[in-house]
Amino acid sequence: MSDTTPGLVTVFGGSGFVGTQVVRALAKQGWRVKVAVRRPNLAQDLRVNGDVGQIQPVRCDITRPADVEAALKGATAAVNLVGLLFEGPGGKFAKSHIEGARTIAETCAAHGIARFVHISAIGADAGSEAAYGRTKGEAEQAILAALPTATILRPSIVFGAGDGFLNRFASMATLSPALPLIGGGKTKFQPVYVGDVAEAVARAIVSPHAQGKTYELGGPAVWSFKDILTYILRETNRSPILAPIPVFAAATLGRVAGLTAMVGIPPVLTRDQVLMLKVDNVVSPGALGLADLGIEATGLEAIAPSYLWRYRRGGQFAENPRDPETLPA
Ligand SMILES: NC(=O)c1ccc[n+]([C@@H]2O[C@H](COP(=O)([O-])OP(=O)(O)OC[C@H]3O[C@@H](n4cnc5c(N)ncnc54)[C@H](OP(=O)(O)O)[C@@H]3O)[C@@H](O)[C@H]2O)c1
Repeated sequence: MSDTTPGLVTVFGGSGFVGTQVVRALAKQGWRVKVAVRRPNLAQDLRVNGDVGQIQPVRCDITRPADVEAALKGATAAVNLVGLLFEGPGGKFAKSHIEGARTIAETCAAHGIARFVHISAIGADAGSEAAYGRTKGEAEQAILAALPTATILRPSIVFGAGDGFLNRFASMATLSPALPLIGGGKTKFQPVYVGDVAEAVARAIVSPHAQGKTYELGGPAVWSFKDILTYILRETNRSPILAPIPVFAAATLGRVAGLTAMVGIPPVLTRDQVLMLKVDNVVSPGALGLADLGIEATGLEAIAPSYLWRYRRGGQFAENPRDPETLPA
């Protein structure tokens, strides 16, 4: 099939944490890549991941159908990575998650672009209590209604240099005497490496078997929220208290802390994020996953030390608490 041969792919949201790795993987596979984002000026560094002219950032806001139409001109495939963690001047969940994704799928369908990979999230569910999960779920339905050949990838939390999860709590541990153990820290996660997610996109986009399928992407191990925080503290040699907070109290805290989002300041926590923590974030039994795309999942401990060292006192020159030479005899 000609549509599985690398040609021109438009990557919406290609300048973010996951998108950067996706663009790199697609360029390596031989695609010419259009990186469609609202601030292409911030995506210029991506060009060095390909040959001269292979990667081209273009201005596009997916909430504007004319922008999407222009960004997909000449494309043979598309990827959508646009996602918000909180609502604010940077966008609204319904517009960015549902309307934007539907516009991309409908435009692909209108132009005969069958290969579209959409990055959703474990927890995407049109019936979710959290607006993030609900709008991610509704987006999946809208996409498959418009373009049944689309592939949906749902990662658990994604880790890697520049991630928003481990870095956030490691950074908090350098400043705060306590870290919040929301709901007692029992929520389960299956952290997945950003490089594996990028490889999954690159493989799904050329695989005829992946058309119309949904994959849930998780790492090799299930971790509780408390396990992850404990691991971060050990790796950064920090010792704030892990303070259990009931979900209802954290939700109230999130409602207040989330107010900073209204002026565009990323909140430490939002009520919506607390609601997402009420449900485990792990691969469902029987779901298709990384292995079905021929990818062996990379463990958290193999990667996280390479970027968590900067949160230790003394940074790269600090003693590694787990280095055998520094352990007591
Ligand atoms: N990170 C995780 O742990 C994780 C876990 C599960 C699922 N996911 C999903 O994976 C996807 C990527 O996540 P990420 O962490 O890489 O996000 P990110 O770093 O925040 O990147 C978001 C990207 O989307 C672009 N963008 C935002 N609004 C846009 C719009 N209206 N039109 C065009 N581009 C827009 C941003 O660039 P501009 O601001 O310049 O437009 C940026 O390139 C999201 O869908 C997210 O929900 C992430």
